[in-house]
Amino acid sequence: MRGTLRGEQYTQVDNHDPFAAPVWRSPVHRTPEPVIWLVQAVRLVFRLAWFLIRHPLPGLAAAVVAVTWAKAGWPGPAAVALAAIAALAGLRAWQPDRFTRWVTVPARSRWRWWCYRRHWHPVMTIAGLAAAYRGKVMLPELGKVTAGRCADRAAVRLVSGQSPDLLADRSANLAHGFGVISCRVRTGPPGSVVLELVRKDALAEPIGALAIPAVPDLRALPVGRREDGAVLTVRLHGTHLLIAGATGSGKGSWLWGLVRAMTPAMHAGLVKVHACDPKLMELAYGRGLFERSGSYAAGPEPIAALLEDDVKAMQERATRFAGRQRDHIPTAEDPFVVVLVDEVAFLTAYQADRKLRDRTLAALATLTTQGRAVGYSVVAALQDPRKEVLNIRNLFPDKIALRLDEPSQADLVLGDGARDRGAVCDEISADPATGAGVGFVRLEADPDPVRVRAAFVSDDDIRAMTAACAIPATAGAPALTGGEAA
Ligand SMILES: Nc1ncnc2c1ncn2[C@@H]1O[C@H](COP(=O)(O)OP(=O)(O)OP(=O)(O)O)[C@@H](O)[C@H]1O
Ligand SMILES: [Mg+2]
Repeated sequence: MRGTLRGEQYTQVDNHDPFAAPVWRSPVHRTPEPVIWLVQAVRLVFRLAWFLIRHPLPGLAAAVVAVTWAKAGWPGPAAVALAAIAALAGLRAWQPDRFTRWVTVPARSRWRWWCYRRHWHPVMTIAGLAAAYRGKVMLPELGKVTAGRCADRAAVRLVSGQSPDLLADRSANLAHGFGVISCRVRTGPPGSVVLELVRKDALAEPIGALAIPAVPDLRALPVGRREDGAVLTVRLHGTHLLIAGATGSGKGSWLWGLVRAMTPAMHAGLVKVHACDPKLMELAYGRGLFERSGSYAAGPEPIAALLEDDVKAMQERATRFAGRQRDHIPTAEDPFVVVLVDEVAFLTAYQADRKLRDRTLAALATLTTQGRAVGYSVVAALQDPRKEVLNIRNLFPDKIALRLDEPSQADLVLGDGARDRGAVCDEISADPATGAGVGFVRLEADPDPVRVRAAFVSDDDIRAMTAACAIPATAGAPALTGGEAA
C-alpha cells in the first residue's frame, strides 16, 4: 500500500461499490487564465529585450521609422532612408577601409551565414555528420561566419563526442555540398572547429617579385603571399628550411625569393650564401652574386668540399663562442651563413659515388644539428620527401610542401595529419601559371597548414640583383634586425 496520502494529492474516484478496489487519480489544478497571459507576456518582453540587446541596429532602425512615421507620416521614414544612403555613400568615398570593416564585411558575412544555414541540415545529414542520440537527431551547430575576399571562416560547434577529424574526413563532401572550391578544417576551442570554405583561389595569379627590404630581418624575410592576402615571411636565422616539391613545382622561386630578400645584407657582408647547385641550372644564374657574397659549387665533389669547409668554419666559430656568447649576431667577422642546396636528394641518395654521398650527408647532418645557434642555416630543396631519400629530413625544423605527387607525401613533409588539416599538396595545379610556387607551410603561431605562394623571381630580376651587388659596398651598410637566434 502507498505511504501517507494527502487529500490534495490524491482523490478517490467516486465508486458506490463498497467492495471494489480503490482507484486513485491525481487532482487537476486549473491555472487561472490571467496567470497564463501574464507569464506569456513576461516571456515575450524578455525575448524582445534579448533580441534588442543582441541586435541593437534593427531595433534602433525600427524605432526611428516608427517615431518619424508617427511624427511626419511617410516623408519621415523616406527622409531617414535617404540620409542613411547618403551617409553610407559618404563613408565609402572618404573612408573606404572603415566602410569595408563596418558595412561590407558584416553584410557579406551575414549573407554567407544565411547561404550556409540554408543548406546546413541536408549537407550535414548526407555527409554523415548527423548523430542520433536517444531517438533525436543532433547536428553540428553553425556559429559566426566571417566572410573574406576569397574564403569564409565558419565557426562550428561539434555535437558532444564528435572530433575535428570526423569533419576533416568529410571535407570534400562539405565543399561540394556548400558549392565551394575546398573546405579545410581548422583548430578551434575545445568542442568547436572553424571551417575554412574557399570560394575563389586567391593565389591563382602569379605574384611579381617583391620589393627588396632596405633592412632585411633574417627572422622574417618576405618571399610571397598567404591566402588571406598577407605578406608571407620566412625565418632563416636560428633555423633550417626544407622545401619539398615535385619537378616544376616552383622550388626555384622560393630559393631565389630568400636570396632576394637578403641581398642588401649580402651586399653589406653580413650574410654569406654558399650555393650548391648539382643540377647546374637553378642557382647558376646568380653565380656572380654568390661568388661575391659567399661561394658557388656545382659538381658533387666541389659541393662536398664546400660543405666540409662550412662544417670546419662552423665548429671553429662554435669553439670561439663557447662560454662567451650564447646567440649569434651577424657581423662582418661572423656573418650569417646560408647553405643553399638545390636537389639535395641527388647528393644524398642518387649520386653513384658512395663516398661522396656519405661525405655530403655527414656534412649536412653536422650543419643542421650544430649550426643553428652559431649563425649557420641550411636551406635545402628536393623533389621526393621520403626518408630513404633524405634520412635527415627531421633535422629541418621548418618545412614547406609544394605540389607533391602522392596524397601521403604532405604528411611526410609537414607532419602527421597535415593533409587532413587541409595541406592538399597533391591537388595543387601542375599548370605553372596557377600552381608553381604554391604550397603549404606551418606558421609558428598556427598549428594548421596555411596555403601560400612564392613571388616569382624572374631571370631579369636575378640579373638585376647580381648587377646591384656589383656596386661596391658603401659605408652605410644596413644593420640587421632579428639577429638573435631562437
Ligand atoms: N612562384 C612562381 N609563380 C609563377 N611561376 C613560377 C613560380 N615559380 C616557378 N614558376 C615557373 O614554374 C616553372 C618551374 O619552376 P622551377 O624550375 O622553379 O621548378 P622546380 O620545382 O625547381 O623544378 P625542378 O625540380 O625540376 O628543378 C618555371 O617555368 C617557372 O617559370
Ligand atoms: Mg629546380
